[in-house]
Amino acid sequence: MSGHAPALQGYVVRPVAGVSGELSVPGDKSISHRSLMLGAIASGRTRVRGFLQSEDCLATMRALQALGVVIEQPDENSVVVDGAGLRGLKRAGRTLDMGNAGTAIRLMTGLLAGQHFDSELTGDESLRRRPMERVATPLRQMGAVIETTDGRPPVRIRGQRHLRAIHYDLPVPSAQVKSAILLAGLYGDGVTSVGEPAVTRDHTERMLEAFGARVSVRDRRSGVTGPADLRAADIDVPGDLSSAAFFLVAGALAARETLTLRGIGVNPTRTGVLDILRLMGANIRVTNERRSGGEPLADLEVERSDLKGVTVPAHLVPLAIDEFPAIFVAAACARGTTTVTGAAELRVKESDRIGAMAEGLQRLGIDVEVLPDGMRVQGGRLRGGRIDSRGDHRIAMAFAVAGIRADGAIEIDDVANVATSFPGFAQTARRAGMDLQFA
Ligand code: S3P
Repeated sequence: MSGHAPALQGYVVRPVAGVSGELSVPGDKSISHRSLMLGAIASGRTRVRGFLQSEDCLATMRALQALGVVIEQPDENSVVVDGAGLRGLKRAGRTLDMGNAGTAIRLMTGLLAGQHFDSELTGDESLRRRPMERVATPLRQMGAVIETTDGRPPVRIRGQRHLRAIHYDLPVPSAQVKSAILLAGLYGDGVTSVGEPAVTRDHTERMLEAFGARVSVRDRRSGVTGPADLRAADIDVPGDLSSAAFFLVAGALAARETLTLRGIGVNPTRTGVLDILRLMGANIRVTNERRSGGEPLADLEVERSDLKGVTVPAHLVPLAIDEFPAIFVAAACARGTTTVTGAAELRVKESDRIGAMAEGLQRLGIDVEVLPDGMRVQGGRLRGGRIDSRGDHRIAMAFAVAGIRADGAIEIDDVANVATSFPGFAQTARRAGMDLQFA
């Protein structure tokens, strides 16, 4: 499925009596991508600690290196970016391969729209199926010259001296599109702003501010003033809540004693999963709250909980958009019916996550009704079975968690892409007490 050689093909997960322990998870993917990109066009040296060393973020790193940026990795979890300045990127001389990473290709398209040289971006089979016109359309309004391939990657961007500042209203809530426009806005003349129909993650706005850009955020509209001179900043990346979510569900289903996740990002534009799991009855405590580099983080403690089905409130959907694979597993183990609507975006992620989760849950004996923009899940008893992850990291990890509570073994095919967001997932799962083997 991915362009990366799948050294490990699958997982076999067997039920266990319980999970517990104190865990940490790797750094936040969204923040790691942004730290490289803003560091690259800032002046000075940006030091990033807690950087997510995953395939997706490495794709961003390699693309920026191809654009002439010097990036070093003094140790496994740190990077140092020697900023090239706003106008300092150079023509890559080759197509930039963004692998499986939607965030990388969308944000890089925004960043490259205002450069004086041509660029071409592509990705793996999954990325080449994902919509790019949502980014290209507003960037063209700014004066960028961008060609997609039937609306998808490969994307060709023509060098452009000037971009116009625009005020754009997003038709779908998407932090990736918002961020692409704001990054292009750094090269615009005056204030570029993006209005969103629902709140989406605001890491770009927070980090731009930390790099000294003039940023405004009010009434679901984010603006930045261009041209912007960014100054290097030190970034501490919190643990990724989207990775922690799998263990929150594991803990809610089967914690023997408290399961604790340390140092997790709890930016309020990301915490929909906490709200949804709590609505379902999960006992989750947020403790030791602190701030680092403009982002809040905390420890999360979860107890085994009796989960019940809920109708997920519409406003929480974009705030939990990456966590639905895990939430659907919680729903499958809950008493009663869980209904998710307003989540059509799930169909255009690394896989069609509504289709992939529905197929997998049905295979495990769960009664599911597929909706055009969501799913209705009837909680029940999971049996063992074989799951096709469709090469999607979050589908693979969600079904690994389901394996804790199934009657028999769950075999999950095609798990190599777990490394795009959560290198070391298998080790962390075992540390929590899960019985997960490679197959
Ligand atoms: C992301 C935004 C979300 C999310 C993705 C990361 C980001 O995508 O699904 O994993 O870093 O901006 P959309 O903004 O397209 O919903």
